Amino acid sequence: MAAASSSRPSRQINIVLRNADQDTTAGYASAADPSGSLKSLPQSGPWAEWHKELDRLVGLDDIKELVYEIYALLQIMQYRSEASLQAQAHVYHMIFKGNPGTGKTTVARLLAKLFQSMGLLAKGHLVEVERADLVGEYIGHTAQKTRDLVKKALGGVLFVDEAYSLARGGEKDFGKEAIDTLVKAMEDYKNQFVLILAGYTLEIDSFLMTNPGLPSRFPIQMTFPDYSVDQLIQIAEGMAKDREYTLLPQTIYKFRQLLVQEKSEAICDFSNARFVRNVLERAIRYQAVRLLSQHPGSSPGRQELMALRPEDVRGLQH
Ligand SMILES: Nc1ncnc2c1ncn2[C@@H]1O[C@H](COP(=O)(O)OP(=O)(O)OP(=O)(O)O)[C@@H](O)[C@H]1O
Ligand SMILES: [Mg+2]
Repeated sequence: MAAASSSRPSRQINIVLRNADQDTTAGYASAADPSGSLKSLPQSGPWAEWHKELDRLVGLDDIKELVYEIYALLQIMQYRSEASLQAQAHVYHMIFKGNPGTGKTTVARLLAKLFQSMGLLAKGHLVEVERADLVGEYIGHTAQKTRDLVKKALGGVLFVDEAYSLARGGEKDFGKEAIDTLVKAMEDYKNQFVLILAGYTLEIDSFLMTNPGLPSRFPIQMTFPDYSVDQLIQIAEGMAKDREYTLLPQTIYKFRQLLVQEKSEAICDFSNARFVRNVLERAIRYQAVRLLSQHPGSSPGRQELMALRPEDVRGLQH
């Protein structure tokens, strides 16, 4: 099977982006490639902008590397065509594998935007669909629905969530028609859109195994690992900051306890960063209720309006 491992994107330009934060003295950060020579990552200009966007995401180092590889490739292709060398367009269709809340949709949306600014996609929008959007009720309906969605995604990314559910009903199911239509669209609209199939690792793997023609059409396969508790706390802090709230040290302690507990109890259906977001948003509601009762009829003041206290952080099921 030419599937997962062999089709990992080339590691030739294996830049560790975190290095870019460490040496900014000369306006350039150095990063080593596997051959040992040094490359320079510009700290200004377009790459620096994209780097900043990517850096807002906690972890996901493989994704960050992939984006740099594509950026580097596009630059070099530009130079190659200027030097009258072949500069063939690559295929960027992808498979995203990972548990709930590990960032698949978020990354797809960001990639669409980055690819647009890199000139790879004309529009850079994301069309997110699932089985019900693609599959119709009678013969021919599915092909039509799927084609319409592909057209809507031209110039951007078509993101098919829980893609394995298209293979659920076997040969006679209309899901198969959707897969066939997608495969045809990949030929018909070559380089006009990026197709991303996403889903949980085990299901996606068995989906690819039962569709032997598929893996080779998706040269980029990315795995989204579960976040560690430390990463989840970092995500919580980032989300709070974005919303102009602060987590006190004792609040972080409580949050951490909750995460450890939830991660061990929920195991298979732990929803990673989405769980964090839900807990945080619930804490924001509890804080509002607490503040209103503590400060009836007057503003609690800026600090209090921002601070989330440990008692505001509670599990979701209670
Ligand atoms: N690495 C990250 N850094 C910061 N926030 C993140 C990160 N990953 C995910 N999030 C946040 O977590 C939430 C859930 O992420 P997202 O919807 O991308 O997950 P998903 O993998 O698509 O989940 P599902 O499989 O259930 O659709 C979003 O609010 C997103 O912004
Ligand atoms: Mg999603």
